[in-house]
Amino acid sequence: MCGIVGYVGHSAGRGNTEHKALDVVLEGLRRLEYRGYDSAGIAVVADGTISSRKKSGKLSNLIAELEAHPLPDAVTGIGHTRWATHGGPTDMNAHPHLSDGGKLALIHNGIIENFAELKQELTAKGVTFLSETDTEVAAALIGDLYRNHLGGDNANGGLTKAMELACQRLEGAFTLLAVHADQPDVVVAARRNSPLVVGLGEGENFLGSDVSGFIDYTRRAVELGQDQIVTITADSVAITDFFGAPAEGKEYYVNWDPASAEKGGFPSFMEKEIHDQPDAVLQTLLGRSDVDGKLTLDELRIDTDLLKSVDKIIVLACGTSAYAGQVAKYAIERWCRIPTEVELSHEFRYRDPIVDANTLIVSISQSGETMDTLMAVRYAKEQGAKTVSICNTNGSTIPRESDAVLYTHAGPEIAVASTKAFLAQIAAAYLLGLYLAQLRGNKFQGEIKDILADLGKVPAKIQEILDNAEQIKELGKDMADAKSVLFLGRHVGFPVAMEGALKLKELAYIHAEGFAAGELKHGPIALIEEGQPVFVVVPSPRGRDSLHAKVVSNIQEVRARGAKTIVIAEEGDEAVKAYAEHVIYIPETPTLLAPLLSTVPLQIFALALASAKGYDVDQPRNLAKSVTVE
Ligand code: AGP
Repeated sequence: MCGIVGYVGHSAGRGNTEHKALDVVLEGLRRLEYRGYDSAGIAVVADGTISSRKKSGKLSNLIAELEAHPLPDAVTGIGHTRWATHGGPTDMNAHPHLSDGGKLALIHNGIIENFAELKQELTAKGVTFLSETDTEVAAALIGDLYRNHLGGDNANGGLTKAMELACQRLEGAFTLLAVHADQPDVVVAARRNSPLVVGLGEGENFLGSDVSGFIDYTRRAVELGQDQIVTITADSVAITDFFGAPAEGKEYYVNWDPASAEKGGFPSFMEKEIHDQPDAVLQTLLGRSDVDGKLTLDELRIDTDLLKSVDKIIVLACGTSAYAGQVAKYAIERWCRIPTEVELSHEFRYRDPIVDANTLIVSISQSGETMDTLMAVRYAKEQGAKTVSICNTNGSTIPRESDAVLYTHAGPEIAVASTKAFLAQIAAAYLLGLYLAQLRGNKFQGEIKDILADLGKVPAKIQEILDNAEQIKELGKDMADAKSVLFLGRHVGFPVAMEGALKLKELAYIHAEGFAAGELKHGPIALIEEGQPVFVVVPSPRGRDSLHAKVVSNIQEVRARGAKTIVIAEEGDEAVKAYAEHVIYIPETPTLLAPLLSTVPLQIFALALASAKGYDVDQPRNLAKSVTVE
């Protein structure tokens, strides 16, 4: 989820543009900084050489570096703001990465799944690597093909051909932009499972991870399709597939204003991030298992013998992240048979918890800076436990202080209320659970492969919900005057009900409460009165039928007392219709994976209701994106 910009123009006086590559690229990076901001870099082609600068931290650090060490004037350049996946946010890991003796520069958005194998192959050829990144491996591969396979000096198709050959080897998700000193008026780019758009100018052309990278210069855009390569000069745009055959992009006119372009055309980051969720889950799953379903969590650096001896897991988290932990508990206990407790971080260390060397602490945090969770992790470490951080922010404090980390790859989450990070956290926790089951022999490889296959189908199912969201949006608008909304769920639906209530509290500032459906009759049912809106998250009828039947009877209980029931149920579940004022159907999926789907309508509902009330859904009152105080 990095920000990427490329530019080729005419030198001053030769065309009708006076833009310098540096200015265009920096302006684009400023607009793309929301996509990634743990480091930034730029490379330009001038006087037969590549000149580049890169710095960890905010874009302002790069700008300061450029002021201290200016780049030569150039009309060809590429730039990158990084959201780290492989390798922490350091100067060395920042993009661009160089190869071919410093004559080639590459920037990248995505995850190269087979980078380890390629790194080994290139190292054997004598290539040395300076960074921990998968990007540098891709740069070295392209440089090696350009120089040693094609003969260098722009021979035999030059940089475009080298990019084609490299893309035939690369696996995973990538948007790549490359420049070479031998071809000072060319930028070559490629994309697979990661966005790339071309901006069409007069005597100049642009590239961006989205249109906000060049919207200040042109609104004519061409969206590239899967497995395509584009070669741009100041006056030409040539698109091919990964084997050199001509291909077409989709041209369109960008009528967003620059501000909404940063939100992908959505009115808020909240709505954009809800729609980012298919990709957030996909990217989190990507590259972590092989075709046989064997999981390889290479950043989970904890001794496997120790993991085999774990006799208790304690999840530490707050808020939405704690609900992700609650969902994960059901799966981890089912798959690994390890007792799993989920503790609110701020309660954990004050209750004299039982923690020892056989306890595995799993902290879940989007920001990696939540002080409550950080202090709880520190406490657990003092008690001798090993700690794993599930985190969305590379290089943040909690993963840095943990023994191991499993990063979610949801990309920066700007809206204060968490959405895509929540689903990515659940996906990452499932991967951890399956990895433990694989290591400890609780599951056969085939069983794990089947669960991973079901997980792999989830992004498309989330997209299906997003594409059919009108009904739930209308409900949100219609219920803008609601004073209180209750949410019921059972089993993994219970934490989903809690999360649905939290979204509504955070965004619409109205009373909302999530309950375990079975708990209702033990008191809360007294709350039910005529017209009281009650959401009910219903498990699949294809799962444990006692679970389904009991939740249907819970719907009857509240309906009989006048509740307005809005039911989230699996496609084809006819049993709920008799007791539901509204039924929101979601695609079929195994019970344990259902939270990745059933949460989405509740997010959309909260957003629609809050929007109808005219509230700021990105920055709700009283809230901070990262609570760095206890
Ligand atoms: C989620 O919508 C909230 N903004 C809040 O509950 C959040 O989940 C909690 O503060 C934990 O934050 P973290 O994931 O960054 O640790």
